Amino acid sequence: MELRLLLTLVLSTHITGFSAEISVFVQTGDSVQLDIQTQQLPEFDLLAWTNNKSEAIVRYNSDSKRVRPHDSYKDRVVFNDKTFSLTLKNMQKNDSGLYTARTTGLITTDLVSYRVSVIDSVKAPVLTVNSNWSSSDSCTVNFTCRAHELMINSSYQNNRCSPQEVTSHINTLILDCSKKYIICNHSNPVSWKQDRINITQLCEDKDKNLKSIHSPTLGKAFGSLCIVLIFFILIVLYFKCKKGSQEEVEGNTVYAQVEVSFKLLFIISLQTSLICCHVV
Ligand SMILES: *[C@@H]1O[C@H](CO)[C@@H](O)[C@H](O)[C@H]1NC(C)=O
Ligand SMILES: *[C@@H]1O[C@H](CO)[C@@H](O)[C@H](O)[C@H]1NC(C)=O
Ligand SMILES: *[C@@H]1O[C@H](CO)[C@@H](O)[C@H](O)[C@H]1NC(C)=O
Ligand SMILES: *[C@@H]1O[C@H](CO)[C@@H](O)[C@H](O)[C@H]1NC(C)=O
Ligand SMILES: *[C@@H]1O[C@H](CO)[C@@H](O)[C@H](O)[C@H]1NC(C)=O
Ligand SMILES: *[C@@H]1O[C@H](CO)[C@@H](O)[C@H](O)[C@H]1NC(C)=O
Ligand SMILES: *[C@@H]1O[C@H](CO)[C@@H](O)[C@H](O)[C@H]1NC(C)=O
Repeated sequence: MELRLLLTLVLSTHITGFSAEISVFVQTGDSVQLDIQTQQLPEFDLLAWTNNKSEAIVRYNSDSKRVRPHDSYKDRVVFNDKTFSLTLKNMQKNDSGLYTARTTGLITTDLVSYRVSVIDSVKAPVLTVNSNWSSSDSCTVNFTCRAHELMINSSYQNNRCSPQEVTSHINTLILDCSKKYIICNHSNPVSWKQDRINITQLCEDKDKNLKSIHSPTLGKAFGSLCIVLIFFILIVLYFKCKKGSQEEVEGNTVYAQVEVSFKLLFIISLQTSLICCHVV
């Protein structure tokens, strides 16, 4: 079985007898292997690994070479009777605690103690852009990275950003920029996750946004508006002329004149609209 020892050994501050207390972090569901850390064992009758509830997880008898696991551990414990290491599988949070290896015989010796902390993998951080501004020669972006209770505000300017780091308990949030990315890394002793923003994309998009004021899409919108406006004026003029022609009872000449002036107006309007649309 492959052991996934996602652990950090932080050496001992507490000295208990001849043995040190070693801090180990294990990701929930993973296995952990605990070694006795000594080459030279004292002569002993019994070697036992115990937890801080005073349960003997395994007991090894040096005469009979018999290994006896505790009932509540027997399905998920492996004891190596050559190296005397203990492997605990499928660790859960409530397995956190102190694990001690001890020999008994003429003298009782604590060989080693492990302070085991079972923790979940970190949640992914979230990198968000607060505000950005860019011209052809620079791109400035303010952004925030959040993860759990940690937060970093920073800004990307002149193609760089100042690296930052905040920690809380065992969690660390690190912010940095490479040439290509703004990277935010959330980590704990057993895992890390990151979020990143593509700088090229971020600054390019912003350039496009600025250019869009003169973009074809916007031009088209103005153009359509222009045509609609002219069309509206045309209709109004048409009805005005028609009404005028009906009032003229003198004869066809006047009517024809009105028609001619309407045609003229129509042409003028058309030309105006064409010029207008061309300008846009
Ligand atoms: C520890 O937690 C696991 C799952 O979370 C549960 O099945 C088990 O009964 C718990 N053990 C104790 C001693 O509380
Ligand atoms: C064992 O240690 C764990 C974690 O330090 C703690 O939560 C638990 O209460 C301890 N159990 C006993 C019986 O001391
Ligand atoms: C900044 O630029 C990005 C990418 O173009 C855009 O998604 C985001 O909405 C912009 N944010 C602000 C506040 O302008
Ligand atoms: C970024 O934030 C700083 C201070 O918080 C502010 O002075 C600056 O104008 C912001 N930049 C942009 C592009 O919004
Ligand atoms: C980060 O900026 C947000 C607003 O954008 C503000 O509410 C928060 O207090 C700032 N945090 C830090 C650590 O400066
Ligand atoms: C994130 O941080 C962890 C812990 O510091 C480190 O091991 C890992 O390599 C980092 N990941 C990246 C992409 O920098
Ligand atoms: C960043 O985005 C740009 C534009 O979409 C793309 O061409 C480039 O490959 C991306 N860079 C990386 C390192 O993914």
